[in-house]
Amino acid sequence: MPDGYYVGLISGTSVDAMDAVLVRFNPHARGGVDVVATHSAPPPAGLRDALLAANGPDHRLRFAEYGRLDQAVAQWAAAAARAVCDKASVALEDLAGIGSHGQTVWHAPDDTPGFSLQLGQGARIAAETNATVVSDFRSMDLALGGQGAPLVCACHGALFGQAEQARAVVNIGGIANITQLAPGADRDVLKIRGFDTGPGNGLMDEWIARHRDAAFDADGAWAATGRIDRPLLDALLAEPYFARAAPKSTGRDWFNLAWLDAHLDRLTHEVTPVDVQTTLAELTAITIARAVHDGESRVDTVYLCGGGAHNAYLAARIAAHVAPADVTVTDDLGVAGDWLEAIAFAWLARERLAGRPGNAPYVTGAARPALLGAVYSAG
Ligand SMILES: Nc1ncnc2c1ncn2[C@@H]1O[C@H](COP(=O)(O)OP(=O)(O)O)[C@@H](O)[C@H]1O
Ligand SMILES: [Mg+2]
Repeated sequence: MPDGYYVGLISGTSVDAMDAVLVRFNPHARGGVDVVATHSAPPPAGLRDALLAANGPDHRLRFAEYGRLDQAVAQWAAAAARAVCDKASVALEDLAGIGSHGQTVWHAPDDTPGFSLQLGQGARIAAETNATVVSDFRSMDLALGGQGAPLVCACHGALFGQAEQARAVVNIGGIANITQLAPGADRDVLKIRGFDTGPGNGLMDEWIARHRDAAFDADGAWAATGRIDRPLLDALLAEPYFARAAPKSTGRDWFNLAWLDAHLDRLTHEVTPVDVQTTLAELTAITIARAVHDGESRVDTVYLCGGGAHNAYLAARIAAHVAPADVTVTDDLGVAGDWLEAIAFAWLARERLAGRPGNAPYVTGAARPALLGAVYSAG
């Protein structure tokens, strides 16, 4: 039997859209979840720029501005929740819960003590939807010494961990993360490994925006026309983050244009913009492939999800580096890769409301499994 309706909401590091899903978890459904409706809500005018400015290198964010952005993201999230329910004619009162990740503006898991800030106040979302809202998913894991990220891994384990061979799930957002699933990972959270591999689409998006007036490199068509610049690639790969052992997680406050520009400045030769784009795609592909090979068991199939799965050039480069493992998309397992991250936050809300832990301790490094998220109810 499927259980109640849940909404999952996330805006990732790309700040391209608030992704909203309306789902019911159903052990008999292919992939374990029925996706009832989906909705993608671009940020309201000005909000994307304000959010990017707030965590840019020259930020001067004041508390008042922080508070206003917290409310604006919450209103954006609440509107997306209402819209996705409207699409399926499901009443907000019929929701078992909403899981809202919010918008990360600062991720500092390696500070002492570590922390991670997501905007999108849960109380506001609860008041505007009359639903029970779970938000602030990362803080408890961080308080227990974890990275608070990546949090999608436990859901990947629950949905995809029943196979008899090892699987890797790679979510390519602004930042990319991997989940390594040993057989039986659906029943044992300790069989799940994972971490942020580093840049996903984020650097490629920023680079093409600077040079071509495009928000992203559609299908990787621009990158496909350039050449890999070996010295630049080697310099980028020398970044200590890549050699660090898991648990580890990162964000755009680490991998951004300032980081790339610093590397370009140190080169003794010029690299054309298109070759930089090709090299950035290669950086993403190689760091993902290394993560696939880094698991304890040999992976037969790599399942891509997130927006980067649409980048055909990038997917081909990943396939070249992970061969003989196959590369496909989570859609092949019955779950649309475009919506999997939002589904994961619906799943995390369900786990929280059922009183079950939501973290995979070997992924985040937290001292123990823990209830994730704060619960808000306006009723
Ligand atoms: N057709 C496509 N070709 C290449 N890249 C794409 C395509 N569609 C989406 N993307 C990439 O996916 C990104 C959005 O992915 P998403 O999973 O929403 O990331 P995030 O979780 O960071 O918001 C876009 O910024 C873009 O880089
Ligand atoms: Mg997105």
